[in-house]
Amino acid sequence: MEKRIKEILSLSPSDEIIRVEGWVRTKRDSKNVSFAEINDGSGLKGIQIVIDHQSFSEELIDSITTGSSVIAEGMIVASEGGAQATELRCTKLELVGACPADYPLQKKRHTIEFLREKAYLRPRTNLFGAVTRVRNTMAYAVHSFFQENGFVYVNTPLISASDCEGAGAQFQVTTLDMENLPRTEDGKVDYSKDFFGKLANLTVSGQLEGETYALAMKNIYTFGPTFRAENSNTARHLAEFWMIEPEMAFCTLEGDMDTAEKFLKYIFKAVLDKNEEDMAFFSKFVLDGVVETLEHVIESPFEHMTYTDAVKILEKHNDAFEFPVSWGTEIQSEHERYLTEVIAKRPVIVTDYPKEIKAFYMKMNDDGKTVRAMDVLAPRLGEIIGGSEREYRYDVLLDRMKELGLDPEAYWWYLDLRKYGSVPHAGFGLGFERAVQYVTGVGNIRDVIPYPRYVRSCEY
Ligand code: 4AD
Ligand code: MG
Repeated sequence: MEKRIKEILSLSPSDEIIRVEGWVRTKRDSKNVSFAEINDGSGLKGIQIVIDHQSFSEELIDSITTGSSVIAEGMIVASEGGAQATELRCTKLELVGACPADYPLQKKRHTIEFLREKAYLRPRTNLFGAVTRVRNTMAYAVHSFFQENGFVYVNTPLISASDCEGAGAQFQVTTLDMENLPRTEDGKVDYSKDFFGKLANLTVSGQLEGETYALAMKNIYTFGPTFRAENSNTARHLAEFWMIEPEMAFCTLEGDMDTAEKFLKYIFKAVLDKNEEDMAFFSKFVLDGVVETLEHVIESPFEHMTYTDAVKILEKHNDAFEFPVSWGTEIQSEHERYLTEVIAKRPVIVTDYPKEIKAFYMKMNDDGKTVRAMDVLAPRLGEIIGGSEREYRYDVLLDRMKELGLDPEAYWWYLDLRKYGSVPHAGFGLGFERAVQYVTGVGNIRDVIPYPRYVRSCEY
């Protein structure tokens, strides 16, 4: 394979002919030579190519414009300019794709909102190039962490007939004719005529299916897209996001929290190790101190507190909140930030939430009021992980489902799993984009996924 520009930039001058393929970021002409900076996405820095006016036609030189794609060949020489150590002195130059002057990415700094509208070109900017590389490092680290620790990667279905979180925030999947819906005798939509013969949705989580594999393979993880039709127009919600969901058998909440903490630290460290240049860029242009924050998080143990204790702390500051807290209320984003930024100054794991505000599958505590849930809250962002020990006792789970008005028939296999060799097990879900947001300091989740989907927006 051809060398990438990142590698070429580290070469010393020699008479070897090097080939560069990439897109022109900038070009400037002087009397006898032109300089163009070429970038191929391998790093922030591009390579300067030097085009001697005597060796190439004026027509070719003029056609090398910002945004055009080129192939250049030549030797690496020491650069006379101060900005770079080396440059490529062209002996061959080819314009592959021309780029007219209406190219949206000009040399000035564009706003992030402007770039969101040009999502098909934004990976060619420094910011989105860096986000893309960091996201890649994190995805690879997710697999490395679990593979090194004996977890098996499982692909759970994206189309599902059950609602994992029971929140009703699902996108329906159907091939029925919306203009002419088949009806049953009592006037309801007749899903027996639909593609699957029943109502189906895009999954909100692979957890339930993941549990069935954990109860065979012991430790598994999923890493895939999930879909939520939440009407949340915020900087941390997407309608389509990627989630990592490990599930561990013979494991209780303590093991779950321990894995979550080690896992987060591992992927953060991978970025600090591999993306030094990109992180320095985020520190300079996106969020001052983002590197130090990550280093601090990696070094310090996460804070632990129960929901009840968290509420006691928060209640004292109720005047400061838009939504005052009392036992039983949701811990919202402003409270999460208060706990992590003001109280703990690091990530906090909150456990044992009231059953009313958590999902049906979580293990009931002996008090009958709280469940073995845990959320990992991060400064700036709030919740990045949600997890729990699962209710593995058949009767307790069945009672809970009835209490919540869930149809046990619809979850027959999930209940059956508790009949056949049930065992304490636990897991969690990390929102991948929230993790990328945290690492890069990027404020809006729409800018850490290539093509964001959110309320009233499905471009490209
Ligand atoms: O807390 P959640 O809803 O938990 C679950 O789905 C469990 N089934 C996970 C498990 O135990 N296996 O979602 C998990 C995480 C959240 O903490 C958050 O980081 C992210 O997924 N998340 C979202 N990210 C972006 N946009 C959204 N709309 C999100 N909803 C949840
Ligand atoms: Mg949650």
